[in-house]
Amino acid sequence: MNISVVILAAGLGTRMRSKRAKVLHRAGGLALAEHVVGAARVLAEPERIVVVTGHQAAEVEAVLQPYGTGFVRQEPQQGTGHAVACCRGRLPDSGLLLVLYGDTPLLTAATLQRLRDAHVSSGAAATLITTVLEDPTGYGRVVVNGDGVVEAIVEHKDCTAAQRAIRVINSGIYCFDAQLLWKHLDEVEPNSQTQEYYLTDIARILTRHGHAVRTLHVDDPSELLGINTRVELAEADRILRLRKTQELMLSGVTIEWPETVIIDAQVSVGMDTVIEASARLLGKTRIGEDCRIGAGAILDSAVLADRVIIAPYSVINDARVDPGAVVGPFSRLRPGAHVCSDAHVGNFVELKNTRLGAGAKSQHLAYLGDSDIGAGCNIGAGTITCNYDGEKKYKTKIGARTFIGSNSTIVAPIEIGDESYVAAGSTITEEVPSGALALGRSRQVNKPGWVEKRRKKKS
Ligand code: UD1
Ligand code: CA
Repeated sequence: MNISVVILAAGLGTRMRSKRAKVLHRAGGLALAEHVVGAARVLAEPERIVVVTGHQAAEVEAVLQPYGTGFVRQEPQQGTGHAVACCRGRLPDSGLLLVLYGDTPLLTAATLQRLRDAHVSSGAAATLITTVLEDPTGYGRVVVNGDGVVEAIVEHKDCTAAQRAIRVINSGIYCFDAQLLWKHLDEVEPNSQTQEYYLTDIARILTRHGHAVRTLHVDDPSELLGINTRVELAEADRILRLRKTQELMLSGVTIEWPETVIIDAQVSVGMDTVIEASARLLGKTRIGEDCRIGAGAILDSAVLADRVIIAPYSVINDARVDPGAVVGPFSRLRPGAHVCSDAHVGNFVELKNTRLGAGAKSQHLAYLGDSDIGAGCNIGAGTITCNYDGEKKYKTKIGARTFIGSNSTIVAPIEIGDESYVAAGSTITEEVPSGALALGRSRQVNKPGWVEKRRKKKS
């Protein structure tokens, strides 16, 4: 049976108290709407998915563009029923139509598949996911008759005292017979208090026409959390983090004290890697097998090969580390850094747009920017590549197996050859040929007996 999906994401989300549209707020490392689109994509082709946008439509569409869905603008936003009505003609008018809300990021594809299967096997006109909540405040209540057939969905604000006591809530996840939905959607009237068109009224309308509206009851309500406030946002984030660490642990990753570790949805980690407490793995970070990520390390869109050690409190952003390399503690790899195999980067060393060759070492206190450093080099403590003259950036090239003495200042643009030596404390402004020793410092002068002479002068 052909299946299409509408995802509602046009609302501002007043209860977030934010300038940003609610569905752009992030949990688990993705915007709320991205999670919903991700689940929908498992069931439907992207060209069969339409996202309704309104508030900050351009921003929402930009975030969702990579998923290949279509978009429909809803201007002004006149309620969830109106939002679905805006999609008329954009999707097939028969088959199955899933309607999802962009603010339910915990929903899984497995649950959507169960919804579809339950809907198809019961032959209902509509099936909605319900659950029982300890505190149902704010949710629409589902009124069912003795046979479990839905009579109505009543919004919290419109409930009578008796209806408020109902703890069975509407999750906002529906599967419709598309033909019947499109036929009767126009019968939804604006709510008398808010003047909004509520999609939930369609339950009463379909029932009135003699069509069955059924429920799929889900026991675990955590999947159905609708995010309306930042408190709920934090709760969704917590659940998504837990899900991610559990998924990784089950796939062979050791995570110490997982409650303290933050791993974004798109991060991948190889088998037998160990992640220490309070590490953060963000963005599109990819980590190989047998690595160790130290406590407090922050990796954002980092690419690590196998057997890499990131010692505690290192910060890596948009950088690459090859097999067997060791980074940290307290190292900083900025965009374009590339630490080649078995190289070592130590404490308070910063690399930006720099390749540190295989087996090369920079163990303490250095800034290496816009540089290409050959294999097997040793970069002494306190080395600085001066890559910026206040206007432009310049490149430094250091050949293989070269030794840069401590506290050297290397003024770019410059080339230092293979197997050469730079004496400690040098300021290097001219090319150093391969195999040479470069000394770029003033010669030391000793004045014997100087202290004694001064003492005599004073007395
Ligand atoms: C809605 C349901 C409620 C259900 C709850 C589950 C209605 C009338 N009520 O309430 O029964 O228990 O979800 O979480 O549907 N949106 C638009 N255009 C609009 C209005 C909303 O696209 O004009 C989008 C929002 O961006 C949001 C979603 O629809 O992603 C739900 O809207 P929201 O205002 O959060 O509905 P609730 O009050 O939570
Ligand atoms: Ca909501």
